[in-house]
Amino acid sequence: MPQRNVKLDYAFCLDKILGEAGFGDTWFKEMAGQVADLHKQLQERHQAGELGFMDLAEQDLGEIKDLAGRIALMADNLVVLGIGGSALGATAVDMALKGVLRHGKPAEPGAMRLFVADNSDPRLFGELLDQLDLTRTVFNVVSKSGSTAETMSQFLVVRDILELKLGREEALKRLVFTTDPEKGNLRAIASDEPVAILNVPPNVGGRFSVLSPVGLLPLACAGHDVQVLLDGAAAMAADCGSGRLMKNPAYLLAALAMGFAGRGRNVLVMMPYASDLMGLAQWFAQLWAESLGKAVSLDGHQVNSGQTPVAAVGATDQHSQLQLYMEGPADKLIMFLTLGNYGRDLEIPGLYPEIEALSYLGGRTMAELIQAEARATAAALASQSRPSLGLRLPEIDEFVLGQVIYLLELATVMAGALLNINPLDQPGVELSKKLTYGLMGRKGFEDQAAHLDALETGGDYVI
Ligand code: PA5
Repeated sequence: MPQRNVKLDYAFCLDKILGEAGFGDTWFKEMAGQVADLHKQLQERHQAGELGFMDLAEQDLGEIKDLAGRIALMADNLVVLGIGGSALGATAVDMALKGVLRHGKPAEPGAMRLFVADNSDPRLFGELLDQLDLTRTVFNVVSKSGSTAETMSQFLVVRDILELKLGREEALKRLVFTTDPEKGNLRAIASDEPVAILNVPPNVGGRFSVLSPVGLLPLACAGHDVQVLLDGAAAMAADCGSGRLMKNPAYLLAALAMGFAGRGRNVLVMMPYASDLMGLAQWFAQLWAESLGKAVSLDGHQVNSGQTPVAAVGATDQHSQLQLYMEGPADKLIMFLTLGNYGRDLEIPGLYPEIEALSYLGGRTMAELIQAEARATAAALASQSRPSLGLRLPEIDEFVLGQVIYLLELATVMAGALLNINPLDQPGVELSKKLTYGLMGRKGFEDQAAHLDALETGGDYVI
């Protein structure tokens, strides 16, 4: 039986700590019944092949490892061209494992520098292209649909620059596509041009795809042990196999988050007490937002569901957001991510013994300080009847990250089931895409261009 190292601490959600603001035995009993029923539904959907992310831990990594090995022979840099679910997972894991300051370090043997270019911002993207040695860079174009404008614009720019600089043959060697196994523009291009290509499993949506080739190829190129990442996910999957609420940390997290949302706590703050986990909080924000924010329920009612995720970082945001969390509207649930072991520590020297406000720090360590701050913040919130959850990570490594990713993905799907919405689609993002196509002159989107023209007020309301 695999051991679960990541733990969920829900003490500060209970009525015995928070009073009326918390949940007690009656609520847990009721919720256990609901979750048990929904677990059966999720099992059926899994068996029907809908929840592909649940099977990723079992995938064969041969193709990904071979390709990463071949890329490593010719490149020091891997640049992911992708956005949303095609980008955030790779950043989250690479940042967690190599640190926020990773790009300042040179590439190491077997560990390429990984850049994730996830915006069509010409300042940032232009600067990145200027800085890279293109002869030692491979571009991984990641788009399940193969039509996302931001990613495709980056691809077209890169394809052109590479060919101008290195010629067609060398340019094509520096491209890898990760896309749908059958459909889309990247698939079509790769059938005419010899570009390496990996498949995104059709039943794995973008924001659930970090443990598919979408995230695993870049992470393997960056030198991370992707098998251990999957082992962590498998361990958590084994631990989340039960339909019993109190035996399943993913379901418990979902039930508490949705329970509090039902009581007006419409904001879920993920606040890791580790700067290197900021990318993970941003990945989770997309997962939670895009999955749960839905206009219509599965039975056709207008629900406008969701819980707004906020990515914060402790202790930094204690000096930015905490005042609001403590005394502002009682509309938040905070999910702290804490670390048992930071992997390194700095002892605080006992200078200035005569200054009492400094001397207490002497001889303690920075890890002790940040851990104390996490505990103190959760306790301070609880003292104001403000709930929090604690996701306790023993340390940051591939195994732990695999566990956390699986836990949060399954929690998201259960939260969707509790809300009776589809957490796997994103109909709300289509309209702005179509309007953009209209503005950019794409054929077939003339109505959208006309709609925007009709809204044009000629600057009358601009001061
Ligand atoms: O989670 C999702 O489905 C989205 O965020 C997509 O990942 C994002 O829109 C990019 O789509 P694509 O991979 O098709 O380019």
